[in-house]
Amino acid sequence: MKTHPTFGVVLPAAGSGTRFGSGDKLLMDLAGQTVLERSLALFVSRENVQKIVIVTSPDRFEPYRRQLPAMIASERLAFVAGGRERWESVLFGLRHLAQLKNPPTFVAVHDAARPLTPPSVIDQAFRTTESHGAALPCVAEPATLKKTAPDNSVSETVDRRGLFQAQTPQCFGLAKLLSGYETLLAAGQIADVTDDAQVFERIGERVIITPGDSLNMKITTAGDLALARAIFTHGSAPA
Ligand code: C5P
Repeated sequence: MKTHPTFGVVLPAAGSGTRFGSGDKLLMDLAGQTVLERSLALFVSRENVQKIVIVTSPDRFEPYRRQLPAMIASERLAFVAGGRERWESVLFGLRHLAQLKNPPTFVAVHDAARPLTPPSVIDQAFRTTESHGAALPCVAEPATLKKTAPDNSVSETVDRRGLFQAQTPQCFGLAKLLSGYETLLAAGQIADVTDDAQVFERIGERVIITPGDSLNMKITTAGDLALARAIFTHGSAPA
């Protein structure tokens, strides 16, 4: 019997990785461990994490599974086939969690390509989810933002006050997030959804912003991997 509310974790990892170039970025070495191992390690040691679902293409199940047995008991890990877009991959992961005999109360959706998330970012997102129902780690937009005209000239500077970059893990009540996804899917309003907080926004549910961190980068390009390696090598990455 569950005594505390638990979290399921969905790691969407079914992207094609075309912006990365050749090779599977999740299997790249990051100071002695793969990117995927490091992303998993962020959640494995948390005792309120009941289940971790890796959503990816079935041909990656075995290569991913092969490198993980030492760090995670198999009953805490599941592999689910991904979809054509991120939203579809997340939806498949949520459906998997919801049909478990004892579904977790909450779900954290975390990009598998974010291996550097400081534990404090996850702690605060989890705590806020337990108290307020949903949490979105964000950092205030640091850049000066420009809009361009069709001729590639600058047309306008955008006021960055009140603008934030959304990160992950994004956390919600599992039943509410899944029902939001299913509602938007049935209404034909899901195709342009690029993160999970957007689902809550569209169904009129509140999402609380929690502190993100500039270290919580997503590895998209080969340059991002080089940067992530430098961060680990120079010892300022989270333990
Ligand atoms: O493409 P983007 O960088 O926004 O992808 C964010 C995350 O969503 C990545 O971890 C990627 O693997 C995942 N994704 C997915 N299924 C897709 C497309 C992206 O799980 N069809």
